[in-house]
Amino acid sequence: MRKLLLCIFAFLSIGACMVQAKPKIAILATGGTIAGSIDSALATTGYQAGVVGVEALIKAVPQIQDLANITGEQIANIDSSNMNDEIWLKLAKEINRLFANGIDAVVITHGTDTMEETAYFLNLTIKSDKPVVLVGAMRPSSAISADGPKNLYNAVALAASKEAKAKGVMVAMNDKILSARGVVKTHSLNVDAFSSPDFGDLGYIVDGKVFFYNKIIKTHTKNVPFDVTKLTNLPKVDILYTYSNDGSGIAAKALFENGTKGIVVAGSGAGSIHQDQKNVLKELMQKGLDVVVSSRVMAGRVAISEADQKLGFISAEDLNPQKARVLLMLALTKTKDPKKIQEYFLKY
Ligand code: SIN
Repeated sequence: MRKLLLCIFAFLSIGACMVQAKPKIAILATGGTIAGSIDSALATTGYQAGVVGVEALIKAVPQIQDLANITGEQIANIDSSNMNDEIWLKLAKEINRLFANGIDAVVITHGTDTMEETAYFLNLTIKSDKPVVLVGAMRPSSAISADGPKNLYNAVALAASKEAKAKGVMVAMNDKILSARGVVKTHSLNVDAFSSPDFGDLGYIVDGKVFFYNKIIKTHTKNVPFDVTKLTNLPKVDILYTYSNDGSGIAAKALFENGTKGIVVAGSGAGSIHQDQKNVLKELMQKGLDVVVSSRVMAGRVAISEADQKLGFISAEDLNPQKARVLLMLALTKTKDPKKIQEYFLKY
């Protein structure tokens, strides 16, 4: 009888544990409008980004405690236009450390201006299938109808969901789920500021429930060979924007002379470059510069002629210039060979 009672007790305890088991989610805060504030509830511009701390962000959305066991960590508190390699490396290393130490998922609060670059950087450097979700806001925390709290709730709901595993790094904004590779900021002020022009959104979050409608095709996270564990800096890569009469090549030469190892050209159309600019780039490529051709057009892939490929021009495929820059930086940690770098652009 005693044995039977013990068994029933053990069974009920295990059942209770199973029901109560909530994922452990770390919220890493980096700043942005979600942590922004101004002394007027009506103002949605002119505020200071990155002033509210991680504990206040967590406290503002008590409902996330029902979804997960939450911990907070302040990685930085900046306007994301000031994002830099040091913070990227710190984030990647810390997320890999947290995953190795039992954290189930990570949510990163981030400014929206460069969120797509950080998301893609982490998509190429995190060594785990566990969910990583970036979230921000278009209105500061002080505004009436601030979008940050709902976005944060959605990000935690997404990170806590079983469906979020092995999807690569994602962005949760305005009820949408977007992939790190596909996401682009497409509006400067509207709360519906993010979409994936080439790919479509991954899915939606509705009342805390997660719905996926799209699949990730490209290789990501633990299957990507870039390893930042021992890195303290990244190769210098810059972007050159193409426009009419863009013929002098002065900027390209100056960048190269000042230590730039790679240039991404935001070409016109499907990646065309003014012939005079192109001639300068060809000269610099002979001296060791790697050049990736992307496009200033929002959607579609670039088309590079075979002759240009033979000269060493690398196609960014459908990556926009700012994301092509991220991949070129990481590619240059492994090789300078344009053919090998082209393979990375086809895969990731
Ligand atoms: C920023 O990117 O830090 C400011 C703008 C924003 O978060 O929307």
